[in-house]
Amino acid sequence: MRTPLMAGNWKMFKSVRESVAMVTALRPKIDGVTGVDVLVAPTFLAVPAVAAALEGSGIHVAAQNCHWEREGAFTGEVSAAMIRDAGAGWVIVGHSERRTLFGETDLSVNRKLRAAITATLTPIVCIGETLDEREGGQTHDVLDRQIQRGLDGVTGAELAALVIAYEPVWAIGTGRTATPEQAQDAHAHIRGRLTQWFGSDAAARCRVLYGGSVKPDNVATLMAQPDVDGALIGGASLDVDSFTRIVKFRVA
Ligand code: PGA
Repeated sequence: MRTPLMAGNWKMFKSVRESVAMVTALRPKIDGVTGVDVLVAPTFLAVPAVAAALEGSGIHVAAQNCHWEREGAFTGEVSAAMIRDAGAGWVIVGHSERRTLFGETDLSVNRKLRAAITATLTPIVCIGETLDEREGGQTHDVLDRQIQRGLDGVTGAELAALVIAYEPVWAIGTGRTATPEQAQDAHAHIRGRLTQWFGSDAAARCRVLYGGSVKPDNVATLMAQPDVDGALIGGASLDVDSFTRIVKFRVA
């Protein structure tokens, strides 16, 4: 029921020219691949050019952040409606780097998420615990809080269409991936809460991605877990060959 999604988060990497070169090289490599959705998230600046280069390809484009207002005096911000207008259909919300480095809270995540839905963008909402929280036995509580506050006011139908990315903060950019068992435990917990709060039909449709040091050689074992519906990939999505191998995880 849930088509796997492989989403490349390019963070603050690649100029416009480099972004277009990447997707131009990527497109023919994954052209015939079926049964998996593919998405790239370049910087705001590269969204229009990447969207144009990917037209008709089936590869989706996301922004990495948005503001919750449609427009206004918010220097340096970009609205969900503007992202939609620039050619992207998706947006990442609440990435741990935004939470820890730029002060985002569950409340701002919730506002952004609702703005994204209003602008007909598909949100990828990131949640996940820090190392201290994991070692303190708080993982499930942290996830509960992030889901409950972050998704406040979201309907079952909206939940079914959005994507959650479980990204343990200690696994992001560290080379320390969660084991498949740790990922499945967190994903099953998330799905259980979604079932409780949004109903079993919506929870069964909502895709939950794993993120944190996903690489070509560990993606298949993560994807073998029943509640892992894809991956949010940082470092390994910046290179055409490694991202292609991840998208083709079934072949490897
Ligand atoms: P990583 O980043 O794959 O480089 O660990 C994942 C993410 O931050 O989404």
